[in-house]
Amino acid sequence: MYKKIVIVFEGIESSGKTFHSHYVSKYLKKKKIDHILLREPGGSRNSEKIRKLLFNDKSYFNKKTDLLLYMASRSENMIRLKEYYKKKIILIDRFTDSTIAYQHYGQGLNLNLINDINKYLLEKFKVDFTFLNVVNKKNMIKRLKKRKRLNRYDKFDNNFYKKVQNGFIKIAKKTKKKYQIIDSNLDIDLNKKIIIEKINKLIK
Ligand code: TMP
Repeated sequence: MYKKIVIVFEGIESSGKTFHSHYVSKYLKKKKIDHILLREPGGSRNSEKIRKLLFNDKSYFNKKTDLLLYMASRSENMIRLKEYYKKKIILIDRFTDSTIAYQHYGQGLNLNLINDINKYLLEKFKVDFTFLNVVNKKNMIKRLKKRKRLNRYDKFDNNFYKKVQNGFIKIAKKTKKKYQIIDSNLDIDLNKKIIIEKINKLIK
């Protein structure tokens, strides 16, 4: 038997979080360990509709609307997340910390408000562990240039990302036991190994 925990992958664009969440999902699948993987925004039918609205090239929303759309997309995901909570391992590519890092640390929106809406949506649902992927400025610029489709935040300046990444690090430092920082500037195979070793310990 293994523990049915909730694991989140966080980090700024190009930090490797999506790659690693998919890698862990493939690993668990190979081991026939039941789990679900979803991303935010997106992850369920209605949430994907909100994602399209957010990242449509023609969309321009003010930052408060952005916040409410991210929260609306989370609200749709909570139905699925609560259904599988403690029944399967849950992997999430971005979650509540992204809202704090981008909308509070990046865009200056009120932290208490964000925390209150998250509490309202999550109720008893809790994240057990988070892998925070960090990347240095040089690699971030290099990797962003390679991406074919840039979303609205990919077009933001480096200073914005610095603020967001520092925000993520601040959050992680508050409850060190529940976070592991993954240095994406290092060899990817090494990071894969570090993450899988930790996952095995967490679910044992
Ligand atoms: P990604 O899923 O391709 O990484 O892109 C998602 C974008 O959405 C990314 O720029 C971060 C942003 N985002 C927020 O600003 N707040 C949130 O709460 C979430 C979940 C994502």
